[in-house]
Amino acid sequence: MIILGIETSCDETALALIETRGSEAGMEMRVIESLVHSQAGLHSAYGGVYPTLAKREHGKNLVPLLGKLLEKAGMQAGMGAGAPEDPGVRGLSERSGSGASSAGRPETAGAPAPIGAVLESFREEIAPQNPELFETFAAADFLKGPAPAIGRIAVTEGPGLEPALWTGINLARMLGALWGVPIVPIDHMEGHIVGSLVPSDAANGAWQRLHDAPMPAVALLISGGHTELVKVARIGSYEILGATKDDAVGEAFDKTARLLGLPYPGGPHIAELAHKAWEEGIPAPVALPRPMISSGDLGFSFSGLKTAALYAVRAAARGQDGALPDAFKKGLAREFESAVSDVLSSKLAAAIEAAGAGSVIVGGGVSANHALRRAFQEAADRYGIPLFMPSRHISGDNALMIAVAGAFGSSGARSTTPGSLRASGTKRLS
Ligand code: KG4
Ligand code: ZN
Repeated sequence: MIILGIETSCDETALALIETRGSEAGMEMRVIESLVHSQAGLHSAYGGVYPTLAKREHGKNLVPLLGKLLEKAGMQAGMGAGAPEDPGVRGLSERSGSGASSAGRPETAGAPAPIGAVLESFREEIAPQNPELFETFAAADFLKGPAPAIGRIAVTEGPGLEPALWTGINLARMLGALWGVPIVPIDHMEGHIVGSLVPSDAANGAWQRLHDAPMPAVALLISGGHTELVKVARIGSYEILGATKDDAVGEAFDKTARLLGLPYPGGPHIAELAHKAWEEGIPAPVALPRPMISSGDLGFSFSGLKTAALYAVRAAARGQDGALPDAFKKGLAREFESAVSDVLSSKLAAAIEAAGAGSVIVGGGVSANHALRRAFQEAADRYGIPLFMPSRHISGDNALMIAVAGAFGSSGARSTTPGSLRASGTKRLS
């Protein structure tokens, strides 16, 4: 079956097509195409993601990106014109001749509907809510042809920014009605978990099995909006063991980066400075706290770390006309990264013990960080259990992970009608 994944929970507009075969236990999958259009450059002026802008950008870009996706997959003829400028669109693969096979649609939810009827039935609701989405959908020639061989649509329902989530959901609803296919709502965090089980060479379009993580697994989810430890009994069954009480770890990276005058998103910039500090032997200018490292539970708190960084920056700027010496920035980045690493790896170890974990899964954008990846590997090695992390090119938000989550039975059973889909900004894994 071919599954279309749609992800719009934050500032990446992402679509992907995968094909699956076999039973769930031995399921094989291949990536047909995965595209990510990042809005990060637009939001950097605000120092964070600006929800109304994110919603509008998703609305403008989703349908052109879909045209491009189907065209690259060989599932429609030459209709990708008007897609967002190429530099902003990251494709997972730039292969040729890797298009979709002509698999049928075993799970057809209903009959495809003519586009005129679809537009009429959604006009009143979606045109005022997502005008850009509705207009581009109505104008897209490639949506007027026969339905592509897509058997299921998987869309992120939460957590995330609700106006942004609704845009992806509304596209899924219109496409579900147009093509007559079922829609599966996916938890973004579940997406990060299964995304880490996608083999790193999946981008070559070959048939692959997902990594078989011994269960129960402990998942450490670290992104701009979340910091969570989750016990995974199996894919589809989750228990949150601990979470942050305030800032997410990615948010702490971004806020600290801002203090140092670095652009948003700041995580990669901090990582780069920290790396230079190690290379150049620049020591930490101050000792930052390791919040809650000895709290005895699996909770996190990162706002104090950011505040400590703020005081250090203020002290260093005093008498310098506000300009921070380079060595200070590098040293502080190094110490910040070490503090985060110490806290995350110590809590990860505690969670492995508490859950009797047979494996570790790390997911979320912050997992791109090399120093943290090394620390997680050391923690897993200490317990002699395997560690699964997303390949770096899919560690950020993407729709491939949403499509893969949509392949699982628990998700299939949750497949729903367009009318009952809802965005859930504060959704929690269960
Ligand atoms: O999962 P993600 O792409 O989006 C959310 O769902 O939040 O995560 C984005 C976060 C941002 O806070 C960004 O600064 C952080 O991931 N990040 C990093 C690195 N690359 C991205 N943080 C630390 N080191 C990195 N190399
Ligand atoms: Zn994410």
